[in-house]
Amino acid sequence: MSEGIVVVGSCMIDFTSYVPRLPKPGETLVGMEFKRTVGGKGANQCVSAAKLGASTTLIASLGSDIFGEEYLQILKSFNINTNFLKIRKDVSSGVAQIMVANNGENSIVIVLGANALLCPADVDEAEGVVKNAAVLLTQFETSLDTTLHALKLHKGRGVSIVNGAPAVANPDLNVLKTSDIFCVNEIETEIMTGIEPLTLDNAQEALDKLFKLGCNTVIITLGAGGAVFASRNDPKMIHVPVEKVKPVDTTGAGDAFLGALAYFIAYHPKLTLKNQIERACQVAKKSVTKAGTQPSFPIKDELSKELFL
Ligand code: RIB
Repeated sequence: MSEGIVVVGSCMIDFTSYVPRLPKPGETLVGMEFKRTVGGKGANQCVSAAKLGASTTLIASLGSDIFGEEYLQILKSFNINTNFLKIRKDVSSGVAQIMVANNGENSIVIVLGANALLCPADVDEAEGVVKNAAVLLTQFETSLDTTLHALKLHKGRGVSIVNGAPAVANPDLNVLKTSDIFCVNEIETEIMTGIEPLTLDNAQEALDKLFKLGCNTVIITLGAGGAVFASRNDPKMIHVPVEKVKPVDTTGAGDAFLGALAYFIAYHPKLTLKNQIERACQVAKKSVTKAGTQPSFPIKDELSKELFL
């Protein structure tokens, strides 16, 4: 019996500056506030699912610096299974430098640190859990070899989702072919397909290009525009709109969406994919109304009960 969600992914320490607007190249800006929090797309997505009540396991790699142990305890506080999370000797934890502008836009630079050491052998140690997962969720902040290894172990046993973030212009096509669902945002889609700017009018063209690369089902998230999706067997694009809200901070909204999508696929498998995406969009929408990444992800009680019927 498949159960729970397994994330093979990254942990980062986020150093976030809140600025009036994003700076131009070469410009020095005076920011209003600074915060150090925890992030990383893998851990964020895992926390998003855990906050909705999912049983989760995070296979990840932290450094042996002052941040590693602190982060481990935070993950445990969300009841995430951290049995396969390694604290690596003599290496720093991954870090992200984030700028969040007044209009809610953000830009991020990451340095992988210990995340670069997450390897196929780490996945092998968790073989039983990976094979049993109802949903396997991965991103591009850890090595594609490790991702592919996890996808192969899990193949045919549940649903696998690869979040192509941050963008990789020429990713290993086997990763795309082996995953069930490939999910990217507008910028990642532009980098992968060369279609720029991506709009609702040319999104079908982008989906078709991603099918040609070997993707099976593709979801493109469009921020305030919701999401579009289609499958290789049923390639006609479906648009899932979302009501507009005034964003406070969009950082991690994609992670809120992916963790929620994994949750709805694992725990509400009878819903259509369209319904699952609609509900995940509601979770992401809620997250942009609060500052930060993990603290902005809603728990079940903060969301409409109808989402969980
Ligand atoms: O998606 C947001 C995340 O991207 C941040 O938490 C940062 O760590 C980077 O990985």
